[in-house]
Amino acid sequence: MVTYIEAGAAPYKNTGVIRLYGPDGFEGMRKACRVTARCLDELASRVQPGVTTEEIDRFVYEFGMDHGALPATLNYRGYTKSSCTSINHVVCHGIPNDKPLREGDIVNIDVTYVVDGWHGDSSRMYPVGEIKRAAERLLEVTHECLMRGIAAVRSGARTGAIGEAIQSYAESERCSVVRDFCGHGVGRLFHDAPNILHYGNASEGPELKEGMIFTIEPMINLGRPHVKVLSDGWTAVTRDRSLSAQYEHTVGVTANGCEVFTLSPAGLFMPGVRALGTA
Ligand code: MF3
Ligand code: CO
Ligand code: CO
Repeated sequence: MVTYIEAGAAPYKNTGVIRLYGPDGFEGMRKACRVTARCLDELASRVQPGVTTEEIDRFVYEFGMDHGALPATLNYRGYTKSSCTSINHVVCHGIPNDKPLREGDIVNIDVTYVVDGWHGDSSRMYPVGEIKRAAERLLEVTHECLMRGIAAVRSGARTGAIGEAIQSYAESERCSVVRDFCGHGVGRLFHDAPNILHYGNASEGPELKEGMIFTIEPMINLGRPHVKVLSDGWTAVTRDRSLSAQYEHTVGVTANGCEVFTLSPAGLFMPGVRALGTA
């Protein structure tokens, strides 16, 4: 059975109940998510051939320190970096290292900042120099998956409506949806109920209610959907080594749809990509 609870009345751990946040929660999330979005904007000009993901991670740490924001991933379940940097066939949770980015790479940078206890979680794809048309198409399809997922959010619908919108579009474009990772409730906690699957059926999952806050973060592959986690315990890669992409926003359910908290102030959500229908 699904239960919902006024956010302030819930214990500070994921017990499976779905928190409903009021105006204070939405305001807290706006602040945290704005810092995250501004950091991701700053990275657009910094992601270049020759730059290492370690350098990117250092920038994420410093930017947080300069803006009253703590990276939520630091010491999270043994993770020791301020960001995840997932290159090419890495699906998610790539660990920043000292290897330089190369022309033609595509890299997802995923940042979660905590500001006044609120978590702002977002990720984007960054092309490194010139990328191949197949890679650019994957970025366009993945971004469109996120946008269609967001468009499905309204109170009264089920979480499955988000997954159905994403899966049907991805597969119509001959891409596949990763099943092993999902979006999640977020707010006071980094990873909370409910899970937001990026596949499935509109008749499934808990009902969306005004005040719910969660991420949508589809991982889409050019090849097959299957992933494996490397021996570092984090890095998830496509089993067939096909390219993978991901975009992530944090959203809150409102009376007439949703508010996207992690929009790019500079209009740089898809830097260097000819987007389908982006402003
Ligand atoms: N930010 C990721 C997400 O979207 C989670 C990263 S957890 C880490 O949920 F430990 F891998 F950093
Ligand atoms: Co997330
Ligand atoms: Co994230």
